[in-house]
Amino acid sequence: SKKNIEQLHQKIKQAHLGGGEKRIAKQHEKKKLTARERIDYLLDEGSFEEIGILVTHRTTDFGMQEQKYYGDGVVTGYGTINGRLVYVFAQDFTVFGGALSETHAEKICKVMDLAVKTGAPMIGLNDSGGARIQEGVKSLGGYADIFHRNVKASGVIPQISAIMGPCAGGAVYSPAMTDFTIMVEDTSYMFVTGPNVVKTVTNENVTSEELGGASTHSTKSGVTHLTANSDITCLEDIKKLISYMPQNNKQKVEKLPFELKDEIREKLDEIIPDSSNKPYDMHSVIEGIIDEGSFLEIHKNYADNIIVGFARLGGRSIGIVANQPMSLAGVLDVDSSKKAARFTRFCDCFNIPLLVLVDVPGFLPGTDQEWNGIILNGAKLLYALSEATVPKVTVITRKAYGGAYDVMNSKHIGADMNFAWPSAEIAVMGAKGASEIIFRKEIKESENPEQKLAEKEAEYAEKFANPFEAAQRGFIDEVIMPKDTRRKLLKAFSMLENKSVLRPDRKHGNIPL
Ligand code: COA
Repeated sequence: SKKNIEQLHQKIKQAHLGGGEKRIAKQHEKKKLTARERIDYLLDEGSFEEIGILVTHRTTDFGMQEQKYYGDGVVTGYGTINGRLVYVFAQDFTVFGGALSETHAEKICKVMDLAVKTGAPMIGLNDSGGARIQEGVKSLGGYADIFHRNVKASGVIPQISAIMGPCAGGAVYSPAMTDFTIMVEDTSYMFVTGPNVVKTVTNENVTSEELGGASTHSTKSGVTHLTANSDITCLEDIKKLISYMPQNNKQKVEKLPFELKDEIREKLDEIIPDSSNKPYDMHSVIEGIIDEGSFLEIHKNYADNIIVGFARLGGRSIGIVANQPMSLAGVLDVDSSKKAARFTRFCDCFNIPLLVLVDVPGFLPGTDQEWNGIILNGAKLLYALSEATVPKVTVITRKAYGGAYDVMNSKHIGADMNFAWPSAEIAVMGAKGASEIIFRKEIKESENPEQKLAEKEAEYAEKFANPFEAAQRGFIDEVIMPKDTRRKLLKAFSMLENKSVLRPDRKHGNIPL
């Protein structure tokens, strides 16, 4: 009847108002969009279908029965991004500060379950004061219900978390278990306990921003993979990120149309400096290889001695892991190993081929590294690359020394194609260090030890500081001209397109953690 229809209209209108105009204005004052505005911007126009718009909480304590808002502080549903199905939840800070209640959690779980059943990415837009204080343990149960689903969905569908406001206490653990986290600068923060508790327990004075703002988590902790300077750029980044991923672990990323031409990139011939100790920017090698402007760097300001990110090569989505000689000479250390291992595993979960660019002088020495477990952390990267069954291709541009040679996607741990540039130096260690050890006696007894060392160093370099010894053994499949790299990689990845690997049945491996 007309009355029923009018009633529904009213309810929907009310739901769309969230916590009311005043609170919406407050949200805007903080330079934050509302949950609905965010969803509208994220999804293709008109594609959003809401699920559970009329849900309300069931609490009666603390006068809560008088305070009910349709949707209960979270907007959930599905829609499309560039035509591809995705599921989304957006916490509504205007309703109880986006705090998570039992029903709020149920709504999130419902879309997560649908996302897994239908094999489509799950995107969470977080903006919440944490567990709904009036509900106590029920909201804690709600968090755990979400965590459990995050884990079950891991490696099945891509999961992305945007942090667009507060995210504290238990709330941090859902984003932490998703594949990618993006934080908005200045308006978001994440921490297990806030500044007040920190002050009480450790007597440290720290602001929210210092403790867990976007800059902290993108540089010091690595908790966030990307940062954005506004809500809009954050949502843009999510769309971009999604474009490199398939819908789920059973699919491949759709390849954009591409026609192979000569693909020679002369600039690559000029990158490696004459002196082997001079740095150069590995980004220029990446740019020289990939489709123009296609690089999306992940963890840009964290452990920048290694570079990871997505790119396209002939329209095909690939993941790149590359040593960066500009930072700490490109050594592997605790943080860079963890960063690269995590990225490698994401690519492997979702059938994204891996390109590894190598210029690594070894592992970083020192007590700091040893005491922080460089052994176990370096092993993570070794394990991750060994374990990956996606097409794996390596290009050694310069140094590949010692254990780090093995780790960086060597033939021995299962790389499919291993290329080296003529500038490659593949050896147990640098020529100087090596000569000082193996020719110690000879050098010490000589009349001019310095000259003797230089002679021996040259002799050692002549023998090992090149790619040819490794190529003779077949550890390198081909020594290539830098300018041919793009063409060689296009063909290699195309050749590897249907790679398939059967592994013995097991529950899961035991990666060193
Ligand atoms: N449970 C219930 N309601 C909450 C809440 C929570 N965890 N967090 C915030 N709210 C409510 C506030 O009561 C307020 O309601 P109102 O609009 O009716 O006045 C509204 O959300 C907005 O919060 P407010 O404190 O005014 O916003 P703010 O931007 O100044 O501060 C926080 C945001 C998150 C820093 C602050 O609300 C806070 O410290 N919340 C509690 C965090 C916490 O300890 N969570 C529990 C454990 S995980």
